[in-house]
Amino acid sequence: MRSVKVSLGTRSYDIKIAAGLLAKLGAECATLDLGQKCALITDTNVAALHAKSALASLKRAGFETVLITVPAGETAKRLKQVESCFNQLAAHRLERKSFIIALGGGVVGDLAGFVAASYLRGIPFVQVPTTLLAQVDSSVGGKTGVNLAAGKNLVGAFYQPRLVLCDLATFRTLPEREFRAGLAEVIKYGIIHDSDLFARLERDMAKILRRDAASLAHIVARSCEIKADIVSQDETEGGLRAVLNFGHTIGHAIEAITAYGRYLHGEAISIGQVAAAHLSAELSGLPAVECERIRALFGAAGLPVGLKLSSAQRTKLLAAMTLDKKVSAGEIKFVLAPRIGKAVWGQRVPSAAVHRALDAVSPLKTEH
Ligand SMILES: NC(=O)c1ccc[n+]([C@@H]2O[C@H](COP(=O)([O-])OP(=O)(O)OC[C@H]3O[C@@H](n4cnc5c(N)ncnc54)[C@H](O)[C@@H]3O)[C@@H](O)[C@H]2O)c1
Ligand SMILES: [Zn+2]
Repeated sequence: MRSVKVSLGTRSYDIKIAAGLLAKLGAECATLDLGQKCALITDTNVAALHAKSALASLKRAGFETVLITVPAGETAKRLKQVESCFNQLAAHRLERKSFIIALGGGVVGDLAGFVAASYLRGIPFVQVPTTLLAQVDSSVGGKTGVNLAAGKNLVGAFYQPRLVLCDLATFRTLPEREFRAGLAEVIKYGIIHDSDLFARLERDMAKILRRDAASLAHIVARSCEIKADIVSQDETEGGLRAVLNFGHTIGHAIEAITAYGRYLHGEAISIGQVAAAHLSAELSGLPAVECERIRALFGAAGLPVGLKLSSAQRTKLLAAMTLDKKVSAGEIKFVLAPRIGKAVWGQRVPSAAVHRALDAVSPLKTEH
């Protein structure tokens, strides 16, 4: 088993990574000095596949369990579901020492984390992420929350889990498209922080796509280490943490103009990172060969590296970018990579350069 420590003073915790950890969930929770009752929050898809083994493990360790199932998909991240969870927790009389377990992807983790942060002003919670994106990204760093009609993640709290268990065996049931989308964040860690990880991804991509156990253990652990390291230095996003947004300004805008329907987040930020690589080549000295290696690696992972847009859609995309929350004082700031393995944040970018980067990933359709 691999273990990564997230160092946040008294709120420090471990991320444990191995195949088969779900069967040890109860025993792991028993080491944490928690109450006897716990609520397992999951979604309908994951409930059918993995809840039974999680619940059995908790019962073997002597915990009394309540199962709360929410609908699968982004629509579960809303205040109505938060209230429904609160009501179920109260009906089953969960108290201050009781705890919550989030079993599922980033949606369940964000929702259950926010429920844990606010029920009785905060009860302990444990993350058991079951998508690649959740294991390498959303379960690390303590951001929890839900969406409003006005936008994604507008209500939430920084709230750290007591433990994160990444069971690599849960990937056996994860749809291919979801798996590849998670790889977009793993590639991001290589670009912003670790050229060796990037080179390893280039070398091992075929093995990773076959979900080779040893390769997965390495990339999940290294990704968690990198995110944990960045988050430990900047828990509440004052500065450094912004490098995690590489490719996300354009990626979020792509998600927004396609009404969150066409691309998964990982797919949108794959295109966004290729565009950010072009910006980096023009403005921060990223060598052309490295820009091409970045495009090629996303391609090798089976992720989109370009999109077709009309000029009207291009205009919408640029407008969506200025609405992104990373804009301060009306100016778009980008994370750029001067080379693979290093990122700088808060870089002002002239709009003509954004146009040229978009030309590289999205040549304008000629209109007749
Ligand atoms: N808190 C953070 O720091 C942070 C960071 C990144 C993303 N997020 C959030 O994460 C969410 C996206 O997470 P996601 O990509 O994991 O999506 P998700 O939670 O919707 O999961 C994707 C799909 O896979 C299914 N699924 C999950 N695990 C499975 C498994 N092992 N086998 C079969 N099916 C499985 C789910 O039911 C769902 O249909 C977004 O809401 C995003 O805002 C949060
Ligand atoms: Zn992301």
